[in-house]
Amino acid sequence: MRTVYIETYGCQMNVADTEMITGSLAAHGYGRVDRPDDADVILLNTCAIRDHAEARVLGRLGELARHKKARPRVRIGVTGCMAQHLRDTLRDRAPHVDLLVGPDGYRRLPALLDADDGELHTALRLDPTETYADLPMQRAGGVRAWLTVMRGCDRFCTFCIVPYVRGRERSLPLGAIVDELHAVAAAGSKEVVLLGQTVNAWRDGDTTFADLLRAADAVDGIERIRFTSPHPAEMTDAAIDAMAGCPKVMPQLHLPVQSGSDPVLQRMARDYGVAAYEDLVARLRERVPGIALSTDVIVGFPGESDADFAATEALMERVRYDSAFLFKYSTREGTRAAKWVDDVPETEKGRRLERLIALQERISAEVNAASVGSEVDVLVEGPARRPDGWVIGKSPQFKTVVLPGPAAPGTLVRVRIEAATSHTLRGVPSSAAAA
Ligand code: SAH
Ligand code: SF4
Ligand code: F3S
Repeated sequence: MRTVYIETYGCQMNVADTEMITGSLAAHGYGRVDRPDDADVILLNTCAIRDHAEARVLGRLGELARHKKARPRVRIGVTGCMAQHLRDTLRDRAPHVDLLVGPDGYRRLPALLDADDGELHTALRLDPTETYADLPMQRAGGVRAWLTVMRGCDRFCTFCIVPYVRGRERSLPLGAIVDELHAVAAAGSKEVVLLGQTVNAWRDGDTTFADLLRAADAVDGIERIRFTSPHPAEMTDAAIDAMAGCPKVMPQLHLPVQSGSDPVLQRMARDYGVAAYEDLVARLRERVPGIALSTDVIVGFPGESDADFAATEALMERVRYDSAFLFKYSTREGTRAAKWVDDVPETEKGRRLERLIALQERISAEVNAASVGSEVDVLVEGPARRPDGWVIGKSPQFKTVVLPGPAAPGTLVRVRIEAATSHTLRGVPSSAAAA
């Protein structure tokens, strides 16, 4: 049997794609191994979202060259968003790469691997109809399953490489998704996360994202449903109503805002302003009580003034997110913003990032501290790193909770929260707390 080793970088869509690549290679006789030393084929499934993501992979490719020296028949492939983004230059920077396969080329991977002639083989054509809905998945099989429901993105935010490397937006058919939900439930997963770059733009004819949530809610065996990432401009009242009305859809939303300044949001082409975003937050909090909100913010976007940045700080103070992913702007070749001067100096980007990190740390700690004394249902995922004998899981709000075991992965335990940091809650089973 031939063997394949895959490393995954980037977002959850890549994690899901790796499961699909593994599944389709398994159907062609490849077994997955955990060490590159044991592999006939080494694949890096890559990300292009920021320069740092690509630099990491280039460094890793340098390290992996030794496998090729030791065993010349080993094939090294780069798949995913960075393969697509750097399709013309990657071979110059890493001459030992045999394969470049973009996000719409995975179907051709087994055939490309058969061509064993030392040439570079590529599958880099974007295909606006490719959904892979029919390909076998090889899922990790844990408590949580990731399920891609749409691919690509049509929004072209000016800073973002995704539409260029993942191509046009396309949704998987409702029927295929429901089948997959049943398969995931039958395999023992209790939670599903529906994935798409603008997941709430999913549609199948007249069937909307709100209908998809209701369909998922009706699948026996699935106990929790989440989705990521919704685009604020696509978040309809119908979708909010579905969140409110479906008991399995968890009170948690990652709602990337990117900036708290209207002029910056406009130059980012985000299609919403600060007022509309905060109105959406208010409607979500009213309709879905206790909802946890997280976000993404970019600092140092071209032209971001001190006043723009102050507006972002002020927005974060007003919204009080449960958590936030904070990034320094990174110019992406090929995007619209790449034509503008990257005029916020690196040191100033660093300063702004540090300020937001400190601000969010404080808010997260305060929000979490306020939950001490409350009771939540924790879906247990497995052993905690420490203390010994404790287990780890997630609350409905997607907070990490540690509690004393034993408790099997996949079980729901009612927990009373006793302590909190900015990142973790600690609790005890409520029966024990009452005793
Ligand atoms: N589809 C999601 C975002 C996917 S990318 C959405 O629209 O919200 C994840 C995050 O990476 C983005 O939300 C953004 O904050 C960040 N990001 C994207 N491009 C970036 C760039 N060029 N520089 C820095 N951060 C970037
Ligand atoms: Fe990128 Fe914008 Fe699409 Fe998100 S919505 S993937 S930020 S272009
Ligand atoms: Fe990165 Fe591609 Fe995801 S660029 S963030 S792996 S869609």
